[in-house]
Amino acid sequence: MQIYDLIIIGGGPAGYLAAERATHGGLSTLLFEMKSLGGVCLNEGCIPSKALLHSAKVFEYATHGDKFGVHVENATLNHAEVVKRRGKVVRTLVAGVGAKMKGAGVTVVKQRASITGRTADGFQVSADGTDYIGKRLLIASGSSPVVPPIPGLKDALEAGFALTNREVLELPEVPKEFVIIGGGVIGLEMAAYYNTAGAHVTVVEMLDHIAGPTDREISDLLLKEYQKKGVTFLLGTKVTALGTDKVLCEADGKPLELPADKVLLSIGRRANTQDLGLETIGVEVTRQGIPTDAQGRTNVENVYAAGDVNGIYMLAHTAYRESEVAINTMLGKRDNMRYCANPAVIYTKPEVASVGMTEEEANAQQIPYEVKKLSMRYAGRFVAETEGEDGLCKVLVHSVHRNVIGVHMIGSYASEIIWGAAAMIEQELRVEDAKQIIFPHPTVSEIIREVIWEFED
Ligand code: NAI
Repeated sequence: MQIYDLIIIGGGPAGYLAAERATHGGLSTLLFEMKSLGGVCLNEGCIPSKALLHSAKVFEYATHGDKFGVHVENATLNHAEVVKRRGKVVRTLVAGVGAKMKGAGVTVVKQRASITGRTADGFQVSADGTDYIGKRLLIASGSSPVVPPIPGLKDALEAGFALTNREVLELPEVPKEFVIIGGGVIGLEMAAYYNTAGAHVTVVEMLDHIAGPTDREISDLLLKEYQKKGVTFLLGTKVTALGTDKVLCEADGKPLELPADKVLLSIGRRANTQDLGLETIGVEVTRQGIPTDAQGRTNVENVYAAGDVNGIYMLAHTAYRESEVAINTMLGKRDNMRYCANPAVIYTKPEVASVGMTEEEANAQQIPYEVKKLSMRYAGRFVAETEGEDGLCKVLVHSVHRNVIGVHMIGSYASEIIWGAAAMIEQELRVEDAKQIIFPHPTVSEIIREVIWEFED
């Protein structure tokens, strides 16, 4: 039986990047993936949803081109073609991950793996009747949609009336009445696409705001923008049951009935810790996931976890960094995971991007801060490239230490700009340091520089 330096369970962003980094670091590595390389992100999450949203953006440009002096007659969005293109994008990138694994010398086994115990040489992992030994393990098994015990929901999922993030990306037709349960990231991105594609979208959210922990001023602007575009938001509303063609809700104690052709369930995700055999070697599991320290170590020596399965931030880019930290630790390099500069993006139109503390968080933690904000229209390129649109950029600075602690934006290009703000926070740049950075002109990114210059040093 071959003994590997490292066995990784799960071939999503955490698993495949860890495999690549590990082999480059000289570790013989075996990667198990039971579905398709790339995990949820590449196959049924981040990437295919961006393909859909880009088609929606192109369609919006075509239909509103007259504002820019470009007249397009009878522009149509062909949903079936959009879905087909999404498949091509996914296949290209999955093949790319496969090629990367091959190039890096990672052994990939496309089977469901489970841990079956320990031997003198390491941990035993079994798949389809074959046993493998790893001196170290990295659990990168990801997450799955939360399915709450709402009456009628299970049947609705089985019947294809209710959908998860997977099915919503390959619907053959655009539903007329589309009800989305949960006004978080998935709910909002899919509301954005299906609204542009012609559905009447209703978002049912139990909180009094959308977009979860996003800065409230920014999430309120996003809400207003999509209300203007025709999306109905029912805030403070709980779903009580699903029928075969309707969703039953309750708001302020009053019942409400929403007719629906399709329903999307997007109320969060749960770490995949079941059926992995974690108990056979004593790995601790909580309701949140597998607890890890700042190096990605679990409670069992030489067993690590990274990505959604730790339940900390269920974001692909966070998973990348967690897996790098875990591999560096295995290789004896000092590294540790910090989450204070972890960007988050919602790919609606306008985009929302943020990093670091919100005002709500700073207040809750009694951190003294100053906040400055400007309309995105202070950036020349934003004015040149938009018509009748606005946006906002907010920067939070620690009142005493004068370092940047949060940046929150709504407007075009926000997703591509936010990493610069993350670098400022990660490097603990003070206002006077940040003022020395030269930004390219004209770019929308200059808005950050404009806001930074609103602060005294
Ligand atoms: P989420 O946690 O972002 O949002 C779920 C929303 O559902 C919350 O606002 C919650 O209050 C609401 N909710 C919960 N139970 C409800 C109920 N019974 N009735 C009505 N509302 C209810 O979860 P989501 O959107 O499912 O996304 C899952 C994960 O995927 C997230 O962790 C997210 O970070 C990740 N993701 C990230 C993306 C990005 O970075 N752009 C895109 C898509 C997903």
